[in-house]
Amino acid sequence: MHAIGIDIGGTKIAAALVDEFGTIIRSDRRPTTASDPRGIEDAVVEMITGLAEGEEVVAAGVAAAGFIDAAQSVVYYGPNVNWRHEPLRATLEARLDIPILIENDANAAGWAEFCFGAGQMYSDMVMLTVGTGVGGAIISENRLFRGGFGCAAELGHLRIVPNGRSCGCGAQGCIEQYGSGRALLRIANELADAGGIGQGLAAARKGKGKLTGKDVGRLIQDGDNGALAALRQLGSSLGQACASLSAVLDPQIFVFGGGVADAGDLLLEPIRAAYLENLPARGFHPEAEFAIAQLVNDAGVVGAADLARKHVFTK
Ligand code: BGC
Ligand code: NA
Ligand code: ZN
Repeated sequence: MHAIGIDIGGTKIAAALVDEFGTIIRSDRRPTTASDPRGIEDAVVEMITGLAEGEEVVAAGVAAAGFIDAAQSVVYYGPNVNWRHEPLRATLEARLDIPILIENDANAAGWAEFCFGAGQMYSDMVMLTVGTGVGGAIISENRLFRGGFGCAAELGHLRIVPNGRSCGCGAQGCIEQYGSGRALLRIANELADAGGIGQGLAAARKGKGKLTGKDVGRLIQDGDNGALAALRQLGSSLGQACASLSAVLDPQIFVFGGGVADAGDLLLEPIRAAYLENLPARGFHPEAEFAIAQLVNDAGVVGAADLARKHVFTK
């Protein structure tokens, strides 16, 4: 039985027809205009209709970058997409003849990694997605943890700097402002401004004002000192958050996804170092492992489809 998974992120919408083993049969992809919820809705309807054509589809899971309610129907708030109490499920179900389930995007990705990817061998896993924002998923004792109101695991909004940078969520000092893809660009641009090790970064941005994610990704692969310093700073913030998360959740593994996770070990090394440096009671209890997501950019759609399928069959 196939299900459809949709993943609405800060910059793109991904969609896929997925079987019960998490294998993608067909997929589709479009850019997102984060300020335009109606445009996103139209795109999602078209993508689901296209993928469902000629197929027997049991449900569609829609992973959205925001705070979701316990009934998995409404996006309460999107820090990077303009959703404010958006009744996404009702709107989509009114336009489509298929059951819809709304899930947080990072929860969906974490679920996919737990079922089919880097978390398969573990009962307790934390996933952080490092993209436009920082998303979180908690698998505790083999279950996806959603909390009392549905909004648990918003790990990007853990405060790591008292009275720090303002965040799209309305609070200050959130990990998202120090550990996301956007934060990486900010840090890289600051290093470029400062000269010194930022010279490679400054050269890459010459003539266009700001660095892009692609520029920084390429410089990281090339081993540029400035780009690697920016990545280390990012990893250090994420690793400190992991140390605190261990005190709460005691996961066996932390899994990292999202665009910045393409950096692989170059990202994991500073994360692990900061984790160990800040881990409470270090040396007296087991330490978590660190891994890059195995489903890479497909985790969101695969997880959303799987959760939607399971929801239909357990009702
Ligand atoms: C949102 C989360 C989302 C994450 C990654 C954060 O800003 O609050 O709901 O999972 O970005 O997209
Ligand atoms: Na989440
Ligand atoms: Zn925040």
